[in-house]
Amino acid sequence: MTLTEEVILLGVNIDHVASLRQSRLTPYPDIVEAARQAESNGADGITVHLREDRRHIQDKDVARLHQVLTTKMNLEMAVTEEMIGIACGIQPQDCCLVPERRQELTTEGGLDVVGQSGRIGEACARLGEKGIRVSLFVDPEPEQIQASADCGAPVIEIHTGCYASATTKQTVDTELNRIQTAVQLGRDLGMQVNAGHGLHYDNIKPVAAFPEIIELNIGHAIVARAIFIGLGAAVAEIKQLMIEARSL
Ligand code: PXP
Repeated sequence: MTLTEEVILLGVNIDHVASLRQSRLTPYPDIVEAARQAESNGADGITVHLREDRRHIQDKDVARLHQVLTTKMNLEMAVTEEMIGIACGIQPQDCCLVPERRQELTTEGGLDVVGQSGRIGEACARLGEKGIRVSLFVDPEPEQIQASADCGAPVIEIHTGCYASATTKQTVDTELNRIQTAVQLGRDLGMQVNAGHGLHYDNIKPVAAFPEIIELNIGHAIVARAIFIGLGAAVAEIKQLMIEARSL
């Protein structure tokens, strides 16, 4: 077996732990405790999205987490001067560049790397100079993946939202085929390929089964499941499903 066939990593997105806290502006639930529980139950990294409107994760969360994480931080952010400045200051291990619109409920669609290659290429270079590994969050579209490689991104994260919201067998299969083609192209172009968005306990296995995918980033479903079984158990359960899918 090659490394890619054996390993599948879980990035746990804890934004919605902060959503609950921000809904009342209380000091709890503690984001650091959430990260600790995730890390000790199978998370290979902690993902946080510092949105421009600061609706959940706050600047001080990013700073605190960066000091205490024992795995790695993946900082999701828009491609803005403000965010690039923050990332260059904190220097997380990974940065995932995402599109952002203030009115959206969550990240809707991938980056338009084709249409913004100059700005995104410059961001990749500036973050890369600080030793930050940059990932571009893209839809499973060949032209976006080719443009990501042209920008010098070492990693792409394939947006699995269309797969997650597909409701018929035919559309699920179509979306899985799109993801598979995108993953293969990303690997052929020499990039690490991750995936995420909308993945949950019932739909994760077909995506986790693609041997070339290195990391899945999952948030909402884990935090929702944690209400019933606790965060540690929710993380352990989804990690187990990923490992089972990979060993089929
Ligand atoms: N990956 C990226 C780039 C995202 O923006 C998000 C949502 O913040 C996720 C993964 C996780 O998505 P979900 O919360 O639906 O698991």
